[in-house]
Amino acid sequence: MINVSDTADSQRIISGMMRLSGRGREEAMHFLDYAWDSGVRWFDHADIYGNGASESVFGEWLKTRGHPREELIIQSKCGIRPGIAYDCSSEYLINATDGILKRLGCGYLDVLLIHRPDVLWEPEEIAAAFRELYDSGRVREFGVSNFNPVQIEYLGHYLDRKIGYNQLQLSLAFAPMVSEGLETNTYSPNGLSRSQGVLDYCRLNDIRIQTWSPLQFGTFQGTFIDNPGYGPLNARLAELAGKYGVSKAAVAAAWNLRLDRRLQVILGTVNPGHFGDLLRATQVQLTREEWYGLYMAAGYSLP
Ligand SMILES: NC(=O)c1ccc[n+]([C@@H]2O[C@H](COP(=O)([O-])OP(=O)(O)OC[C@H]3O[C@@H](n4cnc5c(N)ncnc54)[C@H](OP(=O)(O)O)[C@@H]3O)[C@@H](O)[C@H]2O)c1
Repeated sequence: MINVSDTADSQRIISGMMRLSGRGREEAMHFLDYAWDSGVRWFDHADIYGNGASESVFGEWLKTRGHPREELIIQSKCGIRPGIAYDCSSEYLINATDGILKRLGCGYLDVLLIHRPDVLWEPEEIAAAFRELYDSGRVREFGVSNFNPVQIEYLGHYLDRKIGYNQLQLSLAFAPMVSEGLETNTYSPNGLSRSQGVLDYCRLNDIRIQTWSPLQFGTFQGTFIDNPGYGPLNARLAELAGKYGVSKAAVAAAWNLRLDRRLQVILGTVNPGHFGDLLRATQVQLTREEWYGLYMAAGYSLP
């Protein structure tokens, strides 16, 4: 079993909890034990994952195993309100965070993210919620998810604290924030700015990018690994998997990691075998040729 705590980049791997409660309690506990024994310490939750059930089972695991709280980095997200859409009012954010803490059985969150932008938001309300959550010790750091640069600027204008993280979808088969930069000022549809330069904006402002769904194409449409719709990509992944002695999925995760030295990848599997294979991504340093070769094999072009 690989132990990522031995690697310099151990904090670049995050275990995503979206699918945790879908597997039942015993499997969830077993997976979390495996992740812990692999040295993974950063866990990404959201209050909507399993309608709170993922946080509850994680809280139960934490309590029964007795792992020291300070050894874990636990983050969660709120702001998506089932039945309403989005809600970033102060009252809602504070109540949602208290619900998260209760389910996790924790006194504090290391990081709280606003799950999605809410066009009806009042940034003063978010600022007031963040202030109360920070001052009372319930949240240590704040971030956003799926935000573009203007939204971050707008919100940041009102906050006392820095926005430290932005969680964004990125995979070999879903890379608009990469292609828009590479095909700037061309007529290519992949050159259209869908993220408004969020990749370089976050780099410039020292906002850590956390990439979600590293193995998926589209949004929740499935994985490109072993998918006949991604034949050339799978062939190239297989070649590099052979070269590095890892799985194709690990090469795909390594592609995300190679994009930026601070970027984090959020792994969504709750299957210990898949998870163990994926952790080997930390041992792969793709060359420029390999990185661009994979990008092209995924169907992107370069000007
Ligand atoms: N901020 C946001 O808006 C947002 C949105 C979505 C997700 N997220 C976060 O990102 C995390 C990851 O998202 P995701 O679950 O879509 O990521 P992912 O790692 O791209 O996908 C995981 C899925 O791929 C499957 N899979 C198929 N072949 C696999 C292989 N060879 N190796 C590993 N997995 C394979 C897994 O199945 P098995 O479980 O059977 O391995 C699992 O169903 C979530 O848990 C959540 O924390 C954030």
